[in-house]
Amino acid sequence: MRVLQVSAEIFPLLKTGGLADVAGALPGALARAGAEVRVLLPGFPALREGLSDAATVAEFHAPWGEPARLLFGRLAALDGLPAYVVEAPALYDRPGNPYQDERGHPYADNHRRFALLGFAAARLAEGLDPWWTPGVVHSHDWHAALVNAYLAFSPHRPPVRTVYTVHNLAYQGLCGARHLHELGLPGQAFAVEGLEFHGQLSFMKAGLFYADHVTTVSPTYAHEIQTPQQGCGLHGLLRRRAAGGSLSGILNGVDQRVWDPAADALIARRFDAAKLVGKAHCRTALQKEMGLEQRPGPLFGMVSRLAEQKGLPLLVALLPELVARGGQLVTLGSGDPGIEAALREAAAAHPEAVAIRVGYDEALAHRIFAGSDVTLVPSLYEPCGLTQLYGLRYGSLPLVRRVGGLADTVVDCTLEDLVEEKSTGFVFDAFDTGDMRRALRRAFALFARQTDWKAVQRRAMAQHFGWDDAAEQYLALYRSLGA
Ligand code: ADP
Ligand code: GLC
Repeated sequence: MRVLQVSAEIFPLLKTGGLADVAGALPGALARAGAEVRVLLPGFPALREGLSDAATVAEFHAPWGEPARLLFGRLAALDGLPAYVVEAPALYDRPGNPYQDERGHPYADNHRRFALLGFAAARLAEGLDPWWTPGVVHSHDWHAALVNAYLAFSPHRPPVRTVYTVHNLAYQGLCGARHLHELGLPGQAFAVEGLEFHGQLSFMKAGLFYADHVTTVSPTYAHEIQTPQQGCGLHGLLRRRAAGGSLSGILNGVDQRVWDPAADALIARRFDAAKLVGKAHCRTALQKEMGLEQRPGPLFGMVSRLAEQKGLPLLVALLPELVARGGQLVTLGSGDPGIEAALREAAAAHPEAVAIRVGYDEALAHRIFAGSDVTLVPSLYEPCGLTQLYGLRYGSLPLVRRVGGLADTVVDCTLEDLVEEKSTGFVFDAFDTGDMRRALRRAFALFARQTDWKAVQRRAMAQHFGWDDAAEQYLALYRSLGA
């Protein structure tokens, strides 16, 4: 089966969040399961530079006339994964964040930058590369979603099946309706039964409405987005897709080649569930590196985009208590300047116990999972969440809110679940400080009982969230669509 994966990011070449981790791990897992996989990426500098042995497959024009080139080569950083890259320097050759300028504003021509990605995918399905045509086009998030609309209106719709995965319904890729024709889409596409969303043109809807099947990255999120609370205005459409059997959730996995404490070259000392001494060493090293006192209380870690989604205000409000109880906190993140300032203030007030590192640092992220006792993910909503999975893997017990993929992956330390040997972390329900405080107290209480703590830690580390399982589910889905 020939599968084309289309995304705007791919780990380790370009990453702003979990989407890149998924885009980097899924093709390999699908290939192991027997699929013939290629990826299609926009020509951002980091992606263009990551392409070895690049050859021009075709030259073509965007619907608005701009010339572009389709390159094919291999991504050496991803074990030689076969990849197409859309080269259009005027659109993609900009340093830094792929979506925004240095001041954090989305680029004014993002509709063109990402329409071209979807357009190239559709052209590939129509035979732009005479040597290879996909049987399935699997697009990820709004950046790649327009392929589904282009294929729906393709004059000779090729016999290709389409799957669209929502990684985050809140980012929808909206632009003015006036761009419809420039993007080469017919007037009839601008309808409620189409791309229209409150008078604007929605890239997200191109995926949700036109793809043969829509998936989300956890089963719970697939249900949540059918409610007005979490549907971001699209719950009606999503409910219909679900009723028609064409919306489902497939949980993300952990890339074992990247996230394995027994083989991780980025951490102070390697360890596994049978031998946790290395973890104690990592903990001391992390305290030192972040300028924290060597304290015996639990060390909390958080690696996150600093965005409203991630529940940081709850953490900031509870920090004085966390410190008063003898806890410490290490945060690594970047994003919202207001959240960043609040964390900096807390760190200044308790320099011995609270440290924040602003920025993006892949290696430090590994050291935080390895050195911390608890991984915090108190999200308002969370389509899947990967850091709680990395926390589990590294014996840093996740403290999460019961929402989305967090609800699907962490079992609370209630007395009954402890006794029944199911617990793997700490889970709270309401998005308020009262509920999160109780979860923190459970974490402190368990930490004071080191024998129980270690038992939960070992169980957490033994959890298996593999990409191979997810790949099997995607393959079964492609087959069920007739691919
Ligand atoms: P999201 O995609 O919503 O940001 P996920 O939990 O799915 O959340 O994925 C986040 C990914 O980005 C994880 O791999 C996490 O380790 C990584 N990450 C987030 N912020 C940083 C940062 N500042 N430095 C390094 N890695 C980060
Ligand atoms: C999104 C979501 C996150 C998910 C990631 C990868 O960025 O916010 O929950 O884990 O995509 O699917």
